[in-house]
Amino acid sequence: MKFFLDTADLDEIKEAASWGALAGVTTNPTLYARVGGKLAGFEDHIARICDIVGPECPVSAETVAMDRDQILEDGRRLAAIAPNAVVKVPTMVEGLAATRALADEGIRVNMTLCFTVPQAMLAARAGARYISPFIGRFDDISEDGLEQVANIVEAVNNYDFTANTVNGEKMEVIAASIRSANHVTQCALMGADVATVPFGVLKKMVKHPLTEAGIESFLNDWEKVK
Ligand code: E4P
Repeated sequence: MKFFLDTADLDEIKEAASWGALAGVTTNPTLYARVGGKLAGFEDHIARICDIVGPECPVSAETVAMDRDQILEDGRRLAAIAPNAVVKVPTMVEGLAATRALADEGIRVNMTLCFTVPQAMLAARAGARYISPFIGRFDDISEDGLEQVANIVEAVNNYDFTANTVNGEKMEVIAASIRSANHVTQCALMGADVATVPFGVLKKMVKHPLTEAGIESFLNDWEKVK
């Protein structure tokens, strides 16, 4: 499983990148607004993130247009920001059509706001490089977000979508809208390719009280041998 950071906060990205386990970043309009971002500075901000994480780490930047041609135009502009920029497109009819066209141009798309197996299958067939099923938001409406991700992973793994994706790359499922380390555990067990996590969850993933107690006792005992 790969870990992406779900944030637009440059300090969080720098910190997480320094830990050595970061494989990408996902952003969305809410996350950009949360760091005080403004429309005029959006592409520069994405460029800075792409630069911080380096060319091997995909950085998803979301389109907000509602019609196919505008999504296409915005997607081309976002993809041109850096070689590792990925265009994030909502799962909707116009989004599918734009994804097909972007993929045909060699532009990688992350289809977001995906909640069901049929949505995921359509996204994969339209050439999405990534599909992002949301866990927390599904839980919020009393559905089972984890079960949906498990279903989506199982369904997409029944088929080979490589002929559909850019450069024949493997289509990957990004478990998104993650709210806890346990979500990450469950997604890893079900074989999700990627978990995109908020920085707060990433910090919690490192910790365990027995690890901390073990470090403390080893350090104390080491004092005895000096
Ligand atoms: C994914 O790419 C989204 O940015 C994100 O995971 C949404 O999470 P939320 O439901 O916690 O806002």
